[in-house]
Amino acid sequence: MSLPTRVKLVDVSPRDGLQNEKTPVPAEVKIGLVHRLQEAGLRDIEVTSFVSPKWVPQMADNAEVMHGIRRAPGVRYSVLTPNLKGYEAAVAAPREEWPDEIVVFGSASEAFSQKNINCSIAESIERFAPVVAAAREAGIHVRGAMSCTVGCPYEGDIAPEAVGRLARLMKDIGVQHVGVADTIGVGTPDKVRAAMEATLAHYAIDDVSGHFHDTYGRALDNTRASLEMGVWQYDTSAAGIGGCPYARGATGNVSTESVVAMLHGLGIATGIDEGKLAEAGRFILAALGRAPAAVAH
Ligand code: HMG
Ligand code: MG
Repeated sequence: MSLPTRVKLVDVSPRDGLQNEKTPVPAEVKIGLVHRLQEAGLRDIEVTSFVSPKWVPQMADNAEVMHGIRRAPGVRYSVLTPNLKGYEAAVAAPREEWPDEIVVFGSASEAFSQKNINCSIAESIERFAPVVAAAREAGIHVRGAMSCTVGCPYEGDIAPEAVGRLARLMKDIGVQHVGVADTIGVGTPDKVRAAMEATLAHYAIDDVSGHFHDTYGRALDNTRASLEMGVWQYDTSAAGIGGCPYARGATGNVSTESVVAMLHGLGIATGIDEGKLAEAGRFILAALGRAPAAVAH
């Protein structure tokens, strides 16, 4: 199959990138990052999560961040909502501060589901169902993140059948789009292809994205393998910051910079300005007191 000519990137750095930081990052820095990303041409930004502040203290300023961002036309702002409490908090603000998209997040691995959201896969679907129904009723787009689709830090290899089952459950409750996540970066192109195929049995190609972690340096290979299947939407994180607090070794979301450079090198359009993107990466690394990596030039 020929490669897509255009790719959409969802920058998850304000949420996935920062959720793991031990030192509190001020809301104004998160807001500044969102502004720089939209300035760089990102049209999808995962801003924050409405989860328990006891579990993820770094995201406790979710409402403040949503209130503080200056909305740019054509940008879709998303937030994670694991249950009705999170959804209700996300829409407690005036309508103009609501997210355009909410993300329910499940797992293909039972053990990871327990560690991350404190319930089984079946229970998670029961919790998501009213969230999905309320969001769709309100005209908010619903994405489902599917964690551990190739490997789990607690269970090891995950069979594609488990991914297919989760995709089916998400579809049945009305989730409109699903992201196939390699949470701990153990994927290889063959394994990622199998997880994608299992998902594509239930979702159309336009409703599936990839979310790769670069733990073992294979995120670009896995992106390339997915591109060859026609998958044209990916989650990436400016400067490659982040990881999941409940997945040991889940360092390094693939950097937006490296994916954009690869895509532009392949002649694939993204609408992203590499210079301005590098500025966003430098901004957040400076705020975190880290040296720029080679990719964040
Ligand atoms: P729980 O303890 O089972 O929930 O947590 P509960 O309903 O029993 O409530 C317990 C307490 O939490 C109560 O407060 C609730 O009010 C409160 P208390 O009475 O003890 O004071 N609570 C909440 N507070 C604020 N917002 C909420 C909320 N819900 C309950 N929404 C829960 C269940 C899901 C809340 C918890 O496990 C949690 O917050 N987990 C955080 C998970 C998380 O954020 N993980 C990282 C994101 S996922 C990820 O990074 C992977 C991804 O990037 C893809 C990939 O790479 O794989 C997406
Ligand atoms: Mg992630």
